[in-house]
Amino acid sequence: MIPFNKPYLTGNETTYIEQAVQSGKISGNGIFTHKCQSFFQERYAFRKCLLTTSCTDALEMAAILCDIKPGDEVIMPSYTFVSTANAFVLRGAKIVFADSRTDHPGLDEGGVEKLVTPSTKVIVAVHYGGIACNMDIIMNVARKYDLLVVEDAAQAIDSFYKEIPLGGIGHFGCFSFHETKNIQCGEGGMLVINDDRFFKRAEIIWEKGTNRAEFYRGEVNKYGWVDIGSSFLPSEITAAFLYAQLENLEKIQNRRKVIWQHYYDGLKPLESKGLIKLPVLPEYATNNAHMFYLVCRSGEERNKLIDELRKKNIWSVFHYLSLHRSPFYTGLPGYSPKNLPFSDLYEERLVRLPLYYELTDGEVELIIQIMGNIL
Ligand SMILES: Cc1ncc(COP(=O)(O)O)c(C=O)c1O
Repeated sequence: MIPFNKPYLTGNETTYIEQAVQSGKISGNGIFTHKCQSFFQERYAFRKCLLTTSCTDALEMAAILCDIKPGDEVIMPSYTFVSTANAFVLRGAKIVFADSRTDHPGLDEGGVEKLVTPSTKVIVAVHYGGIACNMDIIMNVARKYDLLVVEDAAQAIDSFYKEIPLGGIGHFGCFSFHETKNIQCGEGGMLVINDDRFFKRAEIIWEKGTNRAEFYRGEVNKYGWVDIGSSFLPSEITAAFLYAQLENLEKIQNRRKVIWQHYYDGLKPLESKGLIKLPVLPEYATNNAHMFYLVCRSGEERNKLIDELRKKNIWSVFHYLSLHRSPFYTGLPGYSPKNLPFSDLYEERLVRLPLYYELTDGEVELIIQIMGNIL
């Protein structure tokens, strides 16, 4: 059986967890949390990083920091994960969905400006598959209308826009270390804060609405309730696991990129015959090999492909369901239908192939061959 995903273990995870346990400090914001945060700050020059228990939590923190009030509008693609929207809905925002690009499932940046109204507060740029949105277009719209930008970089670790690391361009960047991601710790995430106006409040919200971080640093002699907040920081056990992965980032990325390229080259003939569309990488974006997706000619062909692969014990999967047509969104008071044809197209026709560190060249070859027979 070839699963869709298999979380890779570097071998050091349990050693570091043991160290964290032995240290006697297993709650959050300890040595391993700092090691992980410093890793990102040093490698990508991110200004301030805070580990969270998930990307969902990082997005929720970002929504609080954007000071979303009921009725504020937030623009984001419909073709995304529910957490991108939920984080802002929880604060009372009205979500304004944008379509996907014609050549790529990511946000159609060119369509964002016409969605801006006097109530717009935030644009969320989701870097689908780790492939950068055109951040110049998004940042220009944000500057013009004085908006904040949150990058949903859940899938975008170690990926770049014009050589700038994703997650480091908008006001906030949100990463996921869920077990399906390139670097994982089961459940985990991180908020990157790129604008120093938000540094202090971010730490308070992270520490359940208290100034405990200042207290730990000896900057105040007692800590108390100073703002809203929640339990966003993970334990040292999670951070220890994550650090073992981060130490192996290069090795993991290199292998994933080889697998990605193998698929791309092997499936090119099927694209040349017009049977499928392969991923498109804009010239300003890098590929972090988070996923290998392709787009079929119809929903029927996509479903048949998934079924036939499964008969051969190969697990491929579809991806998001357009949020603008979801039961929750269509049930909201004042809902009015919207036509977002490309979001719907990717919902219907996109399929993701197995991609994980331990997938062998032979298995990739087999999948390519079988796909040739099915299509
Ligand atoms: C675009 C996007 N945002 C947010 C998330 C949520 O990440 P997490 O599972 O770490 O909360 C995901 C999950 O895969 C995602 O794909």
